[in-house]
Amino acid sequence: MEKEITIKYNEFLNWSELPSNEISMVEKAYSMCEKAHAPYSNFQVGSTVLLSNGEIVAGNNQENIAYPSGLCAERVALFFAGANFPKESVETIVVVAKGDLVPFDKLLSPCGSCRQVMMEYEMKQSKSIRVVLVSQNGKTVVFNSILDLLPFAFGN
Ligand code: THU
Repeated sequence: MEKEITIKYNEFLNWSELPSNEISMVEKAYSMCEKAHAPYSNFQVGSTVLLSNGEIVAGNNQENIAYPSGLCAERVALFFAGANFPKESVETIVVVAKGDLVPFDKLLSPCGSCRQVMMEYEMKQSKSIRVVLVSQNGKTVVFNSILDLLPFAFGN
């Protein structure tokens, strides 16, 4: 029997249409791109994470000459949050990028490992994480749960 999965998400022409606290998160994420260590890909990614105590934790991609040793911006931010605020839940994660690796009008979408890590925190806190992805042309897509980006997830 053929079955179908439907994903609901919200799209905005520009991130300036987001709620004001998320606009601040996008601005902070862009400022984190400037501090990324991405000499090999020249693709700077910034991420901000809103925690249940109101704290905003930020990260960026950290590359390494031994390529697999580097880490994506999302996981830098999430692992910092998990390490320093283990009792707080993750409410929202924002991801933005600057560089030629992804065409200007294409959605920047987290890699599979980052999706798996986001899912771990959703499971840990039994509460969905809002995922806000911003393309380089400003187009913004919002998912209500990481499960929407990871159907048939391992461990779910
Ligand atoms: N990268 C991220 O930081 N997050 C993503 O969602 C996609 C990719 C980083 C990894 C690497 O440093 C560079 O972007 C190119 O893949």
